[in-house]
Amino acid sequence: MIVLGLETSCDETGVALYHVEHGLLGHVLHSQISLHSEYGGVVPELASRDHIRRVLPLIKTLLGQTQISLKAISAIAYTQGPGLAGALLTGASIGASLAYALGIPALAVHHLEGHLLSPLLSRPAPTFPFVALLVSGGHTQLMLVEGVGRYQLLGETVDDAAGEAFDKTAKLLGLGYPGGQRLEEIARTGQPGKFRLPRPMLHSGDLNFSFSGLKTAVALLIEQHKEDSESYADIALAFEEAVTDVLVTKSAASLTMTGLQRLVVAGGVGANARLRQKLLQRIQADGTTVFFPELVFCTDNGAMIALAGALRLQYAQSLPKCNGSFSVKAR
Ligand code: KG4
Ligand code: ZN
Repeated sequence: MIVLGLETSCDETGVALYHVEHGLLGHVLHSQISLHSEYGGVVPELASRDHIRRVLPLIKTLLGQTQISLKAISAIAYTQGPGLAGALLTGASIGASLAYALGIPALAVHHLEGHLLSPLLSRPAPTFPFVALLVSGGHTQLMLVEGVGRYQLLGETVDDAAGEAFDKTAKLLGLGYPGGQRLEEIARTGQPGKFRLPRPMLHSGDLNFSFSGLKTAVALLIEQHKEDSESYADIALAFEEAVTDVLVTKSAASLTMTGLQRLVVAGGVGANARLRQKLLQRIQADGTTVFFPELVFCTDNGAMIALAGALRLQYAQSLPKCNGSFSVKAR
């Protein structure tokens, strides 16, 4: 069984083919960074139009690269949401109409389920159950993953997502879009310890996060040093240290709480090298294994959607529906 996956929720058009037994057969990605960068962020209308332009040619390229014919495809999985409405509609309408024309099922996949399962694309892949730290532009969650479709929310942000805080701080520092990656780059040249920013909810006793206060604190710090652009790298580093300290501490607490020794990191912020390094130092050191997706599968991509679709197809009868209420109640 081969599943074609389509991801069009935001600013990346991703298509991939996943074989239930042989794994990922191929994937192609088009990033819209150059399209949006002059505006300092994603322009939804431009994003939708670009997805429309790209999806079919990317599918053709993928089929050519993998030497797979449309007839060999058993199902089409597309990102159902969350995401930008127009952008999602593109993938959904192309996915559903292509599936209809081929007489095969169209599978609506929750974007976060794609991220959550993305570490299964790497080798060695984690086995269930594991704890997942899901850190994207819109979400920051700790999830107990018992199997495909069996997710239990352990904690989440009560306000902004970690990725959102990265993006807004990057904007205040004049780094533009995409923020997280650019902030990480300048933080590398920052002087450690020059500034210290708060670590919100570090000792809250639960597994929730909060990043809006940190955002305000960093905004104040930037305002105080606005004439001194040389300190921007130090501020970026102080911000990155604060966010990653909280993410690592809460991840460690979630492992203690669940008694599990496998942590999976997923979502765009999971590409951050400082976060990866701290998780390996502080958590892997305790006997826990930390699994990261390859960098290209941290941010949005078609492979994670094809994979999630294939797993849903495989276990279709026994799976609870993964819909808008993906964030199930905290324990
Ligand atoms: O998972 P993703 O591609 O899209 C969503 O589903 O939101 O995540 C995008 C987020 C953005 O906020 C971006 O700034 C952040 O991931 N991000 C990073 C890095 N690369 C992407 N944040 C910190 N460090 C990075 N290297
Ligand atoms: Zn995403």
